[in-house]
Amino acid sequence: MADDNTAAADKIIRVLMVCLGNICRSPTAHGVFQKRIADANLMHRIEVDSAGTAGYHIGSKPDARSSAVAAKRGYDLTTQSARQVQQADFSRYDYVLAMDKSNLADLSSNCPNAHKSKLSLFLDFGSGDAKEVPDPYYGGDDGFDNVLKLVEDAADGLIAHIIERDLH
Ligand code: 4NP
Repeated sequence: MADDNTAAADKIIRVLMVCLGNICRSPTAHGVFQKRIADANLMHRIEVDSAGTAGYHIGSKPDARSSAVAAKRGYDLTTQSARQVQQADFSRYDYVLAMDKSNLADLSSNCPNAHKSKLSLFLDFGSGDAKEVPDPYYGGDDGFDNVLKLVEDAADGLIAHIIERDLH
């Protein structure tokens, strides 16, 4: 019916990127995916945010190592600040994407059954064999480079998936 089609065409797709602290991996995914949305001219159709399963870093800016690696490839993370996942996120967002299996298990244990189908690993949208974005926090700089590489690949897959599945 015409009204249904109109409603579908106007729907905004909301994506929440989730890691543990919301200062390294999910802010990187947030910043990279934000640029994919802008580059595809889909700012009016897709929104992205990020959050942590833990509350240690609420209000903090992304880790300087994440921001530096991202900036080298044209992504600005510096306007972000950390927040913790809220119960309301499970109804608000259409995709709630975990960086690793531990994050996914935490989300799953808090998510109402009606919204569980929104949960998955972010790297399910990637093209490689890796299923988890490794936590770089206690490691060296190469860990942050690896995060960015994995995130860029999965962001490409995710935007193609949303355009195909949700925006057509
Ligand atoms: P993230 O990395 O989950 O990618 O933001 C971490 C940041 C901080 C801590 C752990 C992971 N932490 O234990 O403080």
